[in-house]
Amino acid sequence: MKHIHPMGLFLLSCTCLLLCFVAPISSDIPREAEALVNWKASLAGADDSLGSWSLANSTSLCSWTHISCDPEGNMRGLDLRDTILNGTLDRFDFSSFPHLENLVLFNNSLYGIIPAGIGNLTSLVELMISNNPSLRGAIPRSIGQLKHLSRLELSVWAIDGTLPDEIGNLTTLEELYISSATLTGSIPRTIGMLMKLRMLSVQQSTLTGSIPLEIGNMTELKNMLLTHNYLEGQLPGTISNLMSLVVLDLSGNQLQGQIVPELGNSSLLDTVSFTRNYFSGLFPSSICIGGALRFVDTSHTGFTGIHHQTFQNCTTLEHVDFTANNIVADIRDFFGEHLWQLSTIAFSQNQLYGTLLTDGGELFPCNYTYLSLLDLSNNVLQGGLSKCFWDMPSLGFMDLSNNSFDGVVPFSSRCAETISYLHLANNHFKGTFPLGLKECKNLVSLDLGGNNFSGSIPSWVSNNLPELKFLRLSSNNFDGIIPRNILNFRHLQILDLSRNKLTGPVPDDFTNLTGMNQKDIYFIYNDRYIYQVQIQIIWKNMDYVYGVLIATMAGIDLSGNSLSQEIPIGLATLLGLRYLNLSGNHFSGRIPKDIGNLVLVESLDLSENQLSGEIPPSFAGLKSISALNLSSNGLWGMIPTSNQLQTLVDPSIYSNNPGLCGFPLEDCANSSASTQSKTSQAEDREAFWVYCSVAAGFIFGFWLYWGAFMFCSQTWRRAFYEYVDHIHMQGKATKIYGCISCFQAKALNEEVRRLVLK
Ligand SMILES: *[C@@H]1O[C@H](CO)[C@@H](O)[C@H](O)[C@H]1NC(C)=O
Ligand SMILES: *[C@@H]1O[C@H](CO)[C@@H](O)[C@H](O)[C@H]1NC(C)=O
Ligand SMILES: *[C@@H]1O[C@H](CO)[C@@H](O)[C@H](O)[C@H]1NC(C)=O
Ligand SMILES: *[C@@H]1O[C@H](CO)[C@@H](O)[C@H](O)[C@H]1NC(C)=O
Ligand SMILES: *[C@@H]1O[C@H](CO)[C@@H](O)[C@H](O)[C@H]1NC(C)=O
Ligand SMILES: *[C@@H]1O[C@H](CO)[C@@H](O)[C@H](O)[C@H]1NC(C)=O
Ligand SMILES: *[C@@H]1O[C@H](CO)[C@@H](O)[C@H](O)[C@H]1NC(C)=O
Ligand SMILES: *[C@@H]1O[C@H](CO)[C@@H](O)[C@H](O)[C@H]1NC(C)=O
Ligand SMILES: *[C@@H]1O[C@H](CO)[C@@H](O)[C@H](O)[C@H]1NC(C)=O
Ligand SMILES: *[C@@H]1O[C@H](CO)[C@@H](O)[C@H](O)[C@H]1NC(C)=O
Ligand SMILES: *[C@@H]1O[C@H](CO)[C@@H](O)[C@H](O)[C@H]1NC(C)=O
Ligand SMILES: *[C@@H]1O[C@H](CO)[C@@H](O)[C@H](O)[C@H]1NC(C)=O
Repeated sequence: MKHIHPMGLFLLSCTCLLLCFVAPISSDIPREAEALVNWKASLAGADDSLGSWSLANSTSLCSWTHISCDPEGNMRGLDLRDTILNGTLDRFDFSSFPHLENLVLFNNSLYGIIPAGIGNLTSLVELMISNNPSLRGAIPRSIGQLKHLSRLELSVWAIDGTLPDEIGNLTTLEELYISSATLTGSIPRTIGMLMKLRMLSVQQSTLTGSIPLEIGNMTELKNMLLTHNYLEGQLPGTISNLMSLVVLDLSGNQLQGQIVPELGNSSLLDTVSFTRNYFSGLFPSSICIGGALRFVDTSHTGFTGIHHQTFQNCTTLEHVDFTANNIVADIRDFFGEHLWQLSTIAFSQNQLYGTLLTDGGELFPCNYTYLSLLDLSNNVLQGGLSKCFWDMPSLGFMDLSNNSFDGVVPFSSRCAETISYLHLANNHFKGTFPLGLKECKNLVSLDLGGNNFSGSIPSWVSNNLPELKFLRLSSNNFDGIIPRNILNFRHLQILDLSRNKLTGPVPDDFTNLTGMNQKDIYFIYNDRYIYQVQIQIIWKNMDYVYGVLIATMAGIDLSGNSLSQEIPIGLATLLGLRYLNLSGNHFSGRIPKDIGNLVLVESLDLSENQLSGEIPPSFAGLKSISALNLSSNGLWGMIPTSNQLQTLVDPSIYSNNPGLCGFPLEDCANSSASTQSKTSQAEDREAFWVYCSVAAGFIFGFWLYWGAFMFCSQTWRRAFYEYVDHIHMQGKATKIYGCISCFQAKALNEEVRRLVLK
C-alpha cells in the first residue's frame, strides 16, 4: 500500500468526476420516486395504470406511466388525467418535485383539500386541477409562490373560499381558467398585476362584487370571459385600455349602468356579449370603430336605444342579437344597409315600429344575400310583406310573430330551399293559406296561428311540405273539412288546428303519421340553427320538467271547431302522443275503446262534445294522465279506476254528464240518474273555467344559445356537461339554454379557438 498505481488513480478520479457530475442530476430521481410511491400507498383505489410506480423500478422513473422527463432525466411532467386515484393529496410531498413543470389532475375522484404545500412546486409552468368534484376547501394562498406559472386551470371542484389576493403574484401568468367552482367574494384587485394575461376565463363560479378598475391594467388581455357569476355594478371605463381585446363575454351577471363608448377602440374586438345583465341606456354607438367586430349578443339586457348610425360602418358584422331589450325605434331608421347583409338579425321582444316595405312596396333595403336568420317577433311592426321574402337565398329561420303585419302573404313561385322555420303567428294576415309555401320543401316548423286566414286547408300541404314537424293553424277562419292528406305527414309531431271553423269528420287512417306513432320520439328541430327555437302549444299546467318535455313531444289539438261524427279510432295508434284536445266540437258516439293505449298522454280533453255511452275500461291504462276533462258530454256509467286516475280528484272534470258515477263522483251504489243534478251545473262550469285558465297556453321552447358554448368552456365535453347543468338550473323557467348536439359545441369552440389563436 506504498503507492497507488497511476491507472488506479486515474480510475478513482474518473469515478469521482462521474460522481461529482452525475450525482447532483440523478439524486432527485429517487426522491421523486419515493414521494410518488408513498403517495400511491395512501390512495384507496389507485388505478392499475400506476403499476409501474414501484421502488424496485426507481432507477427508471422516467419510464413510469403518467410521467415525462427532459433529456437530462429530470421529471418535468405528471399527467394523471382520467386516472382513478380515489384519495387525497395530503400525502403528496410537493417539495420533492423541484423540476416539475406540468401537473394535471383531471377526473381522478380526488377528495380532501389542496394542501398549501402546492406552493413548493416552484418550477411549475402549467397547473390543471379539474373535474374532481369532491375536492373542497380554498385555493391555497401559497399558489402565489408559483413564480413561473403560465397556465392555471381550476374547475369543477367544490372550492369554498375566495380567489386569493396572491393570484396577483403570478406575474408570468398568461392563461387563467376557473369554472364551475363555488367561489365566494369578488375578483381581487390584484388581478390587475397580471400584465401578461391573455385569457381570463372565470365562468359559472358564483363570484360577487364589481369588476375592479385594475382590470384595465391587463393590457395583453385578449379574452375576458366572466359569464354566469353574480357580478354587479358598472363595467369599469378602464376596459377601454384593453387594446388587444378580442372577445368580451359578460353574459349572465347583474351588471348595470351604461357601457363606455370607447369599448370599441380595440381594433381586434371580434365578439361582445352582454346577454342577461341589467345594462341600460344607449347601446354604445362606437362599438364598431375597431373595424373587426363580428358578433354582438346583447339579448335580455335592458338597452333602451341604438343610435341610428351605430351599425353604419360595421362591414364585418355577421350576427346581431338584441332579443328582449327595450329598444324603441323605427326599423328603417337604424337598420343601415350593412345590417341587412349579416347572417343573423334578432330583435325579438323590443318595440320596433314601422314597416319593412319601401314606399314603392319593395322590401327595404332589398339585399339579403347572407341573411340566414331573421327574428323580429314581438314588436309592433306593421304593413305587408314583399314577395322578396321568399327569395332570400340563405334564409333559414324567419319569425315575425306577434306584430301587426297585415295583408295577404304575397305569392312567389320560388321559395328559398334553405328555409325551415317560418312563423307568422299573431298578426293580421288574411287571405287563403299562402300558396307561396308550396315550394318551401324544407319547412320543419310552420306557424300561421292567430291571424285571419280563411278558406280550406289545401290538400297539398303534406305532399309539398314533407319535412314538417310542427304545424299550427289555430285561431284563424279556416273552414271546410280536414283534408285526408293531412295524415300523410311522416314527421309531424305537433298538429294544432284548434279554434277554426272546420267541419266534417276527422279522417281515420293514421298509419302514415309516423312521427307520432312511436313512443321514443324526440322533437329535434334542426341542427343548423343555433338559436332560440320556440313553438307555441297549449299544454296542461306549468310544473313540468322542461328538458324531458322538449325531448319528447307530440300532440294533436283540434279543439274549438265544428268537427263531427265519431272520434277516429285510429287516434289510439299514435303511441307517442303526449296530449290530445278534441274539446268544443260535435263529436258523437263513444270514446274509442283502445284509448288506453295512449300511455304517454298526460293531457286529454274531450269536453263539450256529444259523446255518449260508458267510458271504456281501457281508460285505466292512461297511466301518465294528469290533466283530464270529459265534462259536458252524454257519458254515463262507472268511471274506471286506476292508480293514476285516482290522483285526479277534481269532480268537475266529469261534470255535466247525465250519469257518471264512481270516484271522484258519488259511489255507483248510491248514484241515481239525478245525482248530477242541474243545480250543481253552475258550479261545475265555474270550476271548469278555473281549470281552463290554469291550462292556459304557454310556450315551451329551448334556447339553442350558442354564446354560452362558444366561450364557457375549453373542451366540447365540458360544454355538453354545462348544457345538462343548465337544464337542471333552469328547470323552472320557460326557457332552457342548450345546444342540440355536442358536435356543435365542439365546432363552435374550435372556431373560437381558431379565431383567438389568430
Ligand atoms: C374509493 O374507495 C372506497 C374504499 O376506500 C370505496 O368504497 C369507493 O367505492 C371508492 N370510490 C371509487 C370512485 O372508486
Ligand atoms: C418497471 O417498469 C417497467 C416499465 O414501466 C415495467 O414494465 C415493469 O413491470 C416495472 N417493474 C416493476 C417491478 O414494477
Ligand atoms: C374519467 O375517467 C374514467 C376512467 O378512469 C373514464 O371512464 C371517464 O369517461 C372519465 N370521465 C370524464 C368526464 O372524462
Ligand atoms: C412546503 O410548503 C409548506 C407550506 O407552504 C411549507 O411550510 C414548507 O416549508 C415547504 N417545504 C419546503 C421544503 O419548501
Ligand atoms: C403576494 O401577494 C400578497 C397579496 O397580494 C402580497 O401581500 C405580497 O406582497 C405578494 N408577494 C410578492 C412576493 O409579491
Ligand atoms: C392599475 O390600475 C389602477 C386603477 O386603474 C391604476 O391606478 C394603477 O396605476 C394601475 N397600475 C399599473 C401598474 O398600471
Ligand atoms: C378611444 O376612442 C375614442 C373615440 O371613441 C377616442 O376619442 C379615444 O382617443 C380612443 N382612446 C384610445 C386610447 O385610443
Ligand atoms: C362611418 O364612416 C364614415 C366614413 O369613414 C364616417 O364619415 C362616419 O362618421 C362613420 N360613421 C360612424 C357612425 O362611425
Ligand atoms: C347584394 O350584396 C352582395 C354582397 O354585398 C353583392 O354582391 C350584390 O351585388 C348585391 N346585390 C344587389 C342587388 O344589390
Ligand atoms: C305572443 O305574445 C303572447 C302574449 O304576450 C305571448 O304569450 C306569446 O308567447 C307570444 N308568442 C311568441 C311566438 O312569441
Ligand atoms: C277576417 O276575414 C273575414 C273574411 O275572410 C272578415 O269578414 C273578417 O272581418 C276578418 N276579421 C278581422 C278581424 O279582420
Ligand atoms: C300512406 O303513404 C303511402 C305512400 O306514400 C300511400 O300510398 C298511402 O296511400 C298512404 N296512406 C294513406 C292512408 O294516406
